[in-house]
Amino acid sequence: MSKNTTKKPVIAVVGAGPGIGEAVAHRFATEGFVVALLARTEDKLQTMVQTIDSDVGAGTAHYYITDLRIEDSVISAFQRIRSELGPVNVLVYNAGARRVNGRSLIDTTSEEFENFTKINLFGAFWSSKLVIPEMLAAGKGTILFTSATGALRGMPGLASFSPGKFGLRSLCQIITREYQSKGIHAVNIIVDGPVDGKLIGGVVKRKWERAGEAEKAADVESYLVQPRDLAHTYWFLHTQPRSTWTQELDVRAMKETLFTKL
Ligand SMILES: NC(=O)c1ccc[n+]([C@@H]2O[C@H](COP(=O)([O-])OP(=O)(O)OC[C@H]3O[C@@H](n4cnc5c(N)ncnc54)[C@H](OP(=O)(O)O)[C@@H]3O)[C@@H](O)[C@H]2O)c1
Repeated sequence: MSKNTTKKPVIAVVGAGPGIGEAVAHRFATEGFVVALLARTEDKLQTMVQTIDSDVGAGTAHYYITDLRIEDSVISAFQRIRSELGPVNVLVYNAGARRVNGRSLIDTTSEEFENFTKINLFGAFWSSKLVIPEMLAAGKGTILFTSATGALRGMPGLASFSPGKFGLRSLCQIITREYQSKGIHAVNIIVDGPVDGKLIGGVVKRKWERAGEAEKAADVESYLVQPRDLAHTYWFLHTQPRSTWTQELDVRAMKETLFTKL
């Protein structure tokens, strides 16, 4: 049964957590989209749905429990989205996995390499394969990949992270070359610095605390990428006129704190 009776455009946020994922979903919801949130943890998904529905309107957000490391899980989530909400107009592949404290290559297990590469790259490949046919049928669509500094530079300790993000960058370029002329706008968004969230942002803030740098915490927006500000960038990219499509873009906070200094 359709849960999108007013036929709003559909955004799928794949890898939806309380940081970038929720902020982008919320922004597109306020612009008239119905939102599909995909992740593994049901209680976090329920909280995001409640927030978006209470801010924007009941029935705006829906969740789909998915493990992006498993192709069948991704296929069944997109089948449900298609039958409950309709074809996906905007795909945001936001999932990413890395160690906060990296390990050298020889200490990286095959299991970790495979696990993280599935999340950083395979999930994006499967998700893109599933939405591109319906975007081609519609003659338009937007695909936004959340990327990171590790997509451009191989840095010590990131053996299980960077290769996936490098691959994601190349996947985005391939989608552009194969499908841009048919109306699909794909963008790789390099978030070149820590995001103000629990994990990496939390590490940075604890480091400030230990160093007695309270002035940084008081001026956090100059140091850490704010998800709600980044969500404007995603909306801007989606609404770019077709004579000026961006294929790759990077962002960082004004007084960036480099990962290498963590
Ligand atoms: N945070 C940073 O400092 C930073 C910096 C640069 C770039 N980035 C990029 O930003 C993206 C993440 O944004 P964010 O940090 O703000 O996170 P977020 O949007 O708050 O959450 C991302 C969500 O992805 C989900 N996810 C992870 N593995 C998954 C899997 N196997 N299957 C399904 N869902 C999965 C997780 O939910 P479940 O655990 O519930 O599945 C997680 O909550 C990543 O691509 C990352 O590389 C982040």
